[in-house]
Amino acid sequence: MRAAPRFVILLIAAAVLAIPAHADDADAEIWHKYREGVMDVLKGHISAMSVVLFEGLEDTGHLQSHADGLAEAATEVGKIFPAGSGDDTGALPAIWEQPDKFAAAVTEFEDSSRSLSEAIASGDRRSMAAAFKRTGDSCKGCHESFRAEEY
Ligand code: HEC
Repeated sequence: MRAAPRFVILLIAAAVLAIPAHADDADAEIWHKYREGVMDVLKGHISAMSVVLFEGLEDTGHLQSHADGLAEAATEVGKIFPAGSGDDTGALPAIWEQPDKFAAAVTEFEDSSRSLSEAIASGDRRSMAAAFKRTGDSCKGCHESFRAEEY
């Protein structure tokens, strides 16, 4: 077989180099959609718990499944922001520019939601409320640094 002309080799090399090192837009779109699903689950648990804790639905027996579900869903949050999945989404570039800070925000959320689940199991209303606040603060803390407001 004849050797490929040099320009063909150069074209192939250029094409390979042009492949972005990160995911393409289509990937960002699907990751964004998936993240919305995960975040909506978190919001659902938090909103339901807040009705029981602060709006007078007295039976605290409703809380445990939400707290456990939240702690379980929290384990997803560190896995849903692959590099390159932020274009045209609410995920700010800071997620990938400050990976240590972002990892700390994820860890604080995992830890606080696990403590919330333990506090609910304890049955002590004061520790339930305190643990709920810590968890809510961890949502807000991450959003303040890493989520764009307009999404
Ligand atoms: C470690 C960071 C982090 C934590 C912790 C976190 N979020 Fe988010 N959240 C984000 C980012 C980033 C987005 C934007 C994602 C995107 O647009 O792709 C988002 C988006 C959302 C959205 C919008 C979803 C939609 O359908 O548009 C809601 C609601 C939400 N988060 C609720 C919560 C709640 C409630 C908690 C805590 C129980 C929480 N988040 C914890 C980073 C976080």
